[in-house]
Amino acid sequence: DGELITSRLMVNGSEKIVRGGMSSFFQHSVEGWRVNPSLVLMIRKDVLRFLDAERDVSVVKSSFKPGDTIHYVLDRRRTLNVSHTLHSLLPDVSPLKNKRFRTCAVVGNSGVLLNSGCGKEIDSHDFVIRCNLAPLAEFSEDVGLRSDFTTMNPSVIQRAYGGLRNASDTERFVRRLQMLNDSVLWIPAFMVKGGERHVESVNEIIVNRKLNVRTAYPSLRLIHAVRGYWLTNKINIKRPSTGLLMYTLATRFCDEIHLYGFWPFPRDADGNVVKYHYYDMLKYRYFSSAGPHRMPLEFKTLKALHSKGALKLTTSKCV
Ligand code: CTP
Repeated sequence: DGELITSRLMVNGSEKIVRGGMSSFFQHSVEGWRVNPSLVLMIRKDVLRFLDAERDVSVVKSSFKPGDTIHYVLDRRRTLNVSHTLHSLLPDVSPLKNKRFRTCAVVGNSGVLLNSGCGKEIDSHDFVIRCNLAPLAEFSEDVGLRSDFTTMNPSVIQRAYGGLRNASDTERFVRRLQMLNDSVLWIPAFMVKGGERHVESVNEIIVNRKLNVRTAYPSLRLIHAVRGYWLTNKINIKRPSTGLLMYTLATRFCDEIHLYGFWPFPRDADGNVVKYHYYDMLKYRYFSSAGPHRMPLEFKTLKALHSKGALKLTTSKCV
């Protein structure tokens, strides 16, 4: 942050070179940002060579039978058995089948959203994607309330819902799922061993309480395909973050993609502290080198795409 950067921006149809620190970059880019439809189409086509969000966003019922064995995507020696509950929750068809939207929001979880006032703007998009069941109600001014597609890594159950070990955590979790209100709950259940107990508990809660959510479970090839796409663009990301996965999927069905809450840095452009998550006390330190992701590299990549008009990255207040 604070680095001197030179960026090419499309301003009123013509390209402009902007020099300055991060804050001036974002001021200019927010004012002057324009979608570049031909680049959006080109990226969609390129991504389609590796994955098709319609298919890879979820396995479907006909992919498996109860009792089938699945090898974990990132840990091939270990396996998972498809339970009756899991099988009953696999969608019959892709939740994104034939979906097209003019504008989509992908909402990351950075503390940069706090005091952003972005809630209304986020909710105004045609399709809103959110990550890891982040809380909304208490932060609605800044993050909005609407949600069409919500991811949930199994680790969230341990981290935010006490492993569903007692009744009050379970009720809190049920209330959070009830807020999804017939939207998609996307559970990466086949990535790594470790969360299977939690995934099974979540699935049982959804079935037993007849919760109104549309569950989806990413295909076994999704993460490799996403990694392959970025690698051919010379970006080597071993474990794409949820946010990057969502952007990559969204290229298939959104004409304009707006990203919020992407800021994997402990300080903002003016040197103020930024929380890792807008809603909890997790420390950025924990993720920077020890974690599996390379969010700063992802961010640099997304920033470059922003300046070309492929996506719009909002890291400041919404006006
Ligand atoms: N994100 C970000 N800056 C942060 C926090 C999050 O850019 N300070 C983005 C990342 O793309 C991230 C997404 O917001 O994937 C959602 O945040 P989080 O729930 O923390 O996701 P992950 O850390 O990716 O979850 P996991 O490690 O369990 O995949």
